[in-house]
Amino acid sequence: MSLNATSSSPRRLSLLDKLISNADQALRTLVPGAASEHRPSPAQQRPHAELNDEEKRHAAGLMRINHTGEVCAQALYQGQALTAKLPEVRDAMEEAAREEVDHLVWCEKRIHELGSHTSRLNPLFYGLSFGIGAVAGKISDKVSLGFVAATEEQVCRHLSAHMTSLPTQDEKSKAVLLQMLEDEAKHATTALDAGGARFPLPVKLAMTGLSKVMTKTTYRI
Ligand SMILES: [Fe+2]
Ligand SMILES: [Fe+2]
Repeated sequence: MSLNATSSSPRRLSLLDKLISNADQALRTLVPGAASEHRPSPAQQRPHAELNDEEKRHAAGLMRINHTGEVCAQALYQGQALTAKLPEVRDAMEEAAREEVDHLVWCEKRIHELGSHTSRLNPLFYGLSFGIGAVAGKISDKVSLGFVAATEEQVCRHLSAHMTSLPTQDEKSKAVLLQMLEDEAKHATTALDAGGARFPLPVKLAMTGLSKVMTKTTYRI
């Protein structure tokens, strides 16, 4: 196959551009320290508190789950952007994707402050979520947006549970989760308002099953 300039080359180059851009985004998401935040971390304004080793391990495990959730969000938006049309909500989706980058960076910083590392399974979950996002976008914008809404609702449930599970004095992690909770709820509403499908219970249950696999593994690995 030749990439020489022909009448069909603009389409090929456009595909190549998309692939390069996606590879770049994947690396920014997966390589520690490669992404930059647009808003400062809410943790900065909260006081430092002493945590014992067990509390640190637990808080880092929860923040690792949330970080992987953000890795999945990046991949989902990228996969969706590749195939979905979304003419009316592209700006809103791009703003949501920017906020997800903030979440990713805040979680990663907090994990490092707690003396731990991000999940080694992130490339696997990135690939999986990218594929789901691309397939959903290919089916229709309604399904694609519905998937965003259902995912965000799931994330909100995790965040709320983690808020109560974190060590009481870990105000820094809680401040990060609180802002994320506000943003994710807004993303879910945006996706539904833009015409996202409300998924039936069996689909939601399948998503819950998948998210359980993610949370159980990334808490430790
Ligand atoms: Fe997020
Ligand atoms: Fe979100």
